[in-house]
Amino acid sequence: MAGLRSLVCGEVRLVSESSVDGGRHLILPQARPGPGSGFQLRAILARYAMGDGSVGGPLAFAGGRLAIDGGVPVRNTPLPLARPWIDAADAEAAAEAVRRGWLAGGGPAGGEAEEALARALGTSRSLLMTSCTSALEASVALIGAGPGDEVICPSFTFVSTANAVLRSGARPILVDIDPSSLNIAPAAVDAVIGPRTRAIIVVHYAGRACDMEAISEIAARHGVPVIEDAAHALGATWRTRPLGTIGDFGCFSFHGTKDIVCGEGGALVTRRDEDHRRAEVMREKGTNRAEFLRGEVDRYTWVAEGSSYVMSDVLAAILRVQLGRLPAIRRRKRELASRLTSRLTGLADRVTLPHEWAGIESSWHLYPVLVPPAVRDTAISALRREGIGAAFHYVPLHSSPFGRQHLGYRPGDLPETEHACASLIRLPLFAAMTDDDLEDVATATLKVMGRLLS
Ligand SMILES: Cc1ncc(COP(=O)(O)O)c(C=O)c1O
Repeated sequence: MAGLRSLVCGEVRLVSESSVDGGRHLILPQARPGPGSGFQLRAILARYAMGDGSVGGPLAFAGGRLAIDGGVPVRNTPLPLARPWIDAADAEAAAEAVRRGWLAGGGPAGGEAEEALARALGTSRSLLMTSCTSALEASVALIGAGPGDEVICPSFTFVSTANAVLRSGARPILVDIDPSSLNIAPAAVDAVIGPRTRAIIVVHYAGRACDMEAISEIAARHGVPVIEDAAHALGATWRTRPLGTIGDFGCFSFHGTKDIVCGEGGALVTRRDEDHRRAEVMREKGTNRAEFLRGEVDRYTWVAEGSSYVMSDVLAAILRVQLGRLPAIRRRKRELASRLTSRLTGLADRVTLPHEWAGIESSWHLYPVLVPPAVRDTAISALRREGIGAAFHYVPLHSSPFGRQHLGYRPGDLPETEHACASLIRLPLFAAMTDDDLEDVATATLKVMGRLLS
């Protein structure tokens, strides 16, 4: 609530705030003094405040004037959709890497970060890459996909998933999602898999696991590998198994918009030793430089086709520090998501709130809600005017200009994907947000949805 400043804690709790109640005191019997009392007050006031700053009851609040209609915004300082958790330790790690003078990849910081990531994933090894995009490209290339082959992936994903296929010369076969999980629908995979299929790429959207049992069964039946696009899913599990370690290849992102960041970066985890060795060569321009750096050969040379996919040691040094925060980030995001969901439950008959289901633990990378398509764009604009950095996700790949012109898809081909993309709003959820920030997200969402969906 803009302008809320003073709380006198005692037997009777009072708020003095001229812009809220015209200088009078509000008695808030629900408030308890002590740590977090500011948060409680904001939650309580949110239920009583009208959009124009005056005070009403809960029903009046739901009908409060939106900032987009000239009302008072929930926040004056916009809250971004995401902001990474970075502090002095990250800066010091980067400076230390620079002082050490090893700026290229494959150095000591890279090795330490790879160990830390492998430990976090319960695997024996990982390979740092320049991005999740390069990890996906390497996976598709290592599978040997090429012209005439097909790779199945969801249409509801970031472009990198399908670009990795195109770059190999193979054709991405875009399929629909299960509307309850927003993940690739196993039945849709089953319907298109055939003799040309070289791989299935799954995306654990928002950090919630795909149906890995059904996907693995289909893949095994057809003898094709599974690539997990785990860009959203670091720290999430399926039946207690870390996502990204279940399929043949797991691809992670440390892009600045993710929970664990190093600016631009990614990682590749392989199930088989042989694939790990081949990926290590591929990311070093097709050379055995990694063996050379480990002292296993006295010179390195060109041994296979490759590219330049190794993460710089300066970024790896930041990543190593970031990975140390993973448990704290996961805990904090889980707590924030749970609190936001309980604040928004009153909307649950009109808005689909994100949830976990049996056997999965989400990373809570994103907090996507689904609203009727007719109000979605207005709701995003209205939330932004309330100071909340809401956003949509994604333009479906099959109905994008490229999907239509070069892959031959048409709008209407994948109805569940289209409906989800037309309904989805991402609300801000990041570990560095304060309790008050979260309360603003809840307040603005209740205010906007209360008005648009009443
Ligand atoms: C599902 C998915 N896959 C892949 C990527 C690409 O990640 P990167 O930017 O690390 O290449 C993203 C990026 O947001 C993503 O959301």
